[in-house]
Amino acid sequence: MFGSEEFANKIDVSRETLQRLSIFADLLPKWQSRMNLVADSTLDQIWKRHMLDSAQIIPLIRKYYPELDKPVWLDLGSGAGFPGMVAAIMGAGPVEMVESNTKKCSFLRQVLVQTGTEAKIHNCRIEDMPVKLANIITARALAPLPELLNLAHKFIGPETEFWLLKGQDVEEELTEATIYWNMEVEIHLSLSDPNGRILRVRKVRRKDGKKDN
Ligand SMILES: C[S@@+](CC[C@H](N)C(=O)[O-])C[C@H]1O[C@@H](n2cnc3c(N)ncnc32)[C@H](O)[C@@H]1O
Repeated sequence: MFGSEEFANKIDVSRETLQRLSIFADLLPKWQSRMNLVADSTLDQIWKRHMLDSAQIIPLIRKYYPELDKPVWLDLGSGAGFPGMVAAIMGAGPVEMVESNTKKCSFLRQVLVQTGTEAKIHNCRIEDMPVKLANIITARALAPLPELLNLAHKFIGPETEFWLLKGQDVEEELTEATIYWNMEVEIHLSLSDPNGRILRVRKVRRKDGKKDN
């Protein structure tokens, strides 16, 4: 069984952070009976499928993006908080989670209160967010890359980096996205899933040169 101890063997976190992640992990099944937060089939694998899957991007982002001090960090389609809430609990900075589902936002607010974490929850559609340049944009299971870039276009500046948790068919998404977008891409293997891929996408520019900000 992969639990919090196994998680801590893979991700370097303080005891306090692990405790806060545990509070989050314990809240998930309690709220799941009231609303569909994550797939039921993953509830007995929270630490691997959700915590580790999300947390693994933090050391990578810290390594590649040294100015992590106070980035504008948007987590799009956060759902039950993956990866945005995990990033916030791990002290990644003032993460802003954008989630259109009001019930899920109630859960996210409860996690913030119970874990004493600071982060912002935007209960709205991404399309209704104001234009704002982001340093870091994270997302998991929100949309295929071409659609995701369209959704996020108003947050993209020259310094914006996307860190996306993807499956193995990421090559197809990349092929399609590069029809419309210039970008630099790195693919990292996932620690939590042999088929998972972590995409780092930067220097994103629309090929037609249209701008929103
Ligand atoms: C499949 S879930 C993934 C949730 C989470 N990122 C995860 O991996 O567990 C996608 C989430 O994005 C939200 N979502 C989808 N389209 C959205 C939009 N246009 N604006 C804001 N949230 C959206 C949905 O409500 C849902 O909670």
